Amino acid sequence: MVKNPFTPTFGVSPPLLAGRDDLIEEFAAALDDGPGASGRATIYTGARGTGKTVMLNKVQDVAKKNGWLVISETATPGFITRLATIHLPSILMDLMDQGKKRISGVTLPFGAGGATWDNPAAANIPTNFRSQLELVTDILAEYDTGVLITIDEIHYRQIDELREFGATIQHAFRDSRNVAFAAAGLSSAVSPVLNDDVLTFLRRAERYNLGRVSLSDVEQAIREPIQENGREIDAAVCTEAAQATGGYPFLIQLIGQYIWRQHPKEKTITLADVAEGVAAARRRMGALVYEPALADISSIDRTFLVAMSQDAGPSKMSDICSRLGVGTNYAGQYRLRLIEAGMIESTTYGEVDFAQPLLKEYLREHAASLATQIAADAPTSLKPNKSGKFRI
Ligand SMILES: Nc1ncnc2c1ncn2[C@@H]1O[C@H](COP(=O)(O)OP(=O)(O)O)[C@@H](O)[C@H]1O
Ligand SMILES: [Mg+2]
Repeated sequence: MVKNPFTPTFGVSPPLLAGRDDLIEEFAAALDDGPGASGRATIYTGARGTGKTVMLNKVQDVAKKNGWLVISETATPGFITRLATIHLPSILMDLMDQGKKRISGVTLPFGAGGATWDNPAAANIPTNFRSQLELVTDILAEYDTGVLITIDEIHYRQIDELREFGATIQHAFRDSRNVAFAAAGLSSAVSPVLNDDVLTFLRRAERYNLGRVSLSDVEQAIREPIQENGREIDAAVCTEAAQATGGYPFLIQLIGQYIWRQHPKEKTITLADVAEGVAAARRRMGALVYEPALADISSIDRTFLVAMSQDAGPSKMSDICSRLGVGTNYAGQYRLRLIEAGMIESTTYGEVDFAQPLLKEYLREHAASLATQIAADAPTSLKPNKSGKFRI
């Protein structure tokens, strides 16, 4: 049986990364441009499932192809310690290993960087992050290559470590070292970090918000993996499937997987396969994406979303205010937070709409249980009324 090519799993690179060619080229150019290129510090933000982690995977591939070394970390507590006690020492060991050593296609002579150590394990490798990074980049500079550090899931909770990390990277940049840095995080978790006074270098980093992918790119990302794996899909059928994704990257994989699954032994994927596959993908989407996303935000944020879900199209802020019984300023704050969290977007003046394709349907289906949850921890002004009905 032919393998289903789609990969609806967080962090797993898709068979075809749709709509990100420009970003990949930007990053490759920053490596080529040399120290000082602004793209050597890049941050990708976006909502859950927009492809932040796979974007980091991609820039790692680009760096490796260019002969760079790559270190991949996540901003969970202790990441600086892990850099200093695991990643950099292991690179240094490799670089200084006995005899000749091939690293990223270049042959390093024994004693690269001026060190001649018989026993690297016993060698006097510096223990702090900054000295280690300097040593590694000194050695790599002789071979005209550098090191890329990627940090996933940047979060303001780790601000202290990020400051330390930022200070070191900033020094390396000032010394024109071959260091590149790419990070990713939810917009709402990254923004407070960027506003931190100490982290000016992060503020100057290139920041890209990974949003929706265009319909034609989505079509290609569905069609090509299908064809490469021995099956067919007609153009009109493919358009139907692509439209159902709303351009949302995670849905490209989820819908792709389910439309393939309907009749995997048939040569051609039909319109009926798409209809059934899309319905199945939608059912999975709630548990995989919306449940965790809604758990991340406050109950008032959720109330706001439920209030929006009553509208067929975009919602007027004035309607939201009256449904919630709150003033414009109050609602405005929540509007901003939800935009930041990648859940909604501002359409025209005074209106907002959902930024994710199926969130409205999900909220409508789950309004009852969400209302109970909200009622449990909402301020009195937003509690359900006497007849048990939620006010919105
Ligand atoms: N540009 C894209 N084209 C096709 N599939 C994508 C794209 N970006 C992400 N995906 C898929 O979406 C899912 C979520 O990607 P991931 O990087 O884990 O999201 P995030 O880190 O933003 O939550 C993965 O299954 C991935 O393969
Ligand atoms: Mg991720």
